[in-house]
Amino acid sequence: MRLFIAINFPSDIKAAIAKVRDKIKNAALRGSFSLDENLHLTLVFIGECDRLQTEEIKEVMDSITFSPFMLKLNKAGYFNCGGGDVWWVGLKESAPLLLLQSELEAKLRQSGLVLESRRFAPHITLGREVKVPAGFIAPKTVQAKFSVVSIELMKSEHINGKLTYTQIYSKGN
Ligand code: 2AM
Repeated sequence: MRLFIAINFPSDIKAAIAKVRDKIKNAALRGSFSLDENLHLTLVFIGECDRLQTEEIKEVMDSITFSPFMLKLNKAGYFNCGGGDVWWVGLKESAPLLLLQSELEAKLRQSGLVLESRRFAPHITLGREVKVPAGFIAPKTVQAKFSVVSIELMKSEHINGKLTYTQIYSKGN
């Protein structure tokens, strides 16, 4: 199973993010854009896991305590990826988010999981391999904020050629 731990959004926030995605999608020359149901914020990408490791991940999630905290959407931007860029919506800097992410990552490593050393750059992917016309200006993101009350263990797979994320565990605060 290919797993990651994420923060999922309430439907109004998803709709606000989808609006930004659509502005980019409508202007783009090409790109593979995230489906509404796939919009999320990854905290830790874990990768392939067996059943035992999955149980250990759930135990780590259970051991994490956090108080609900607010996240605010920030502007849209992109990672430069040569042939086609990854466009995303960012989040306003959040100390509780960074604390939660670093504790989670540290505890997963302590449990023996081998994780990527990539620095955490909080972003919500809107589209991959995107090419926008020269001079395209990133759309403004609406002022939207939401309270984070849980984190989810997600499974990533292709079902009939469609990238599908399924929640397999949730840890509330
Ligand atoms: P991305 O959207 O920036 O690609 C599921 O694939 C989630 O895990 C995505 O949010 C993805 O981020 C993230 N992720 C992080 N590292 C990854 C990797 N090496 N392979 C696939 N997804 C990764």
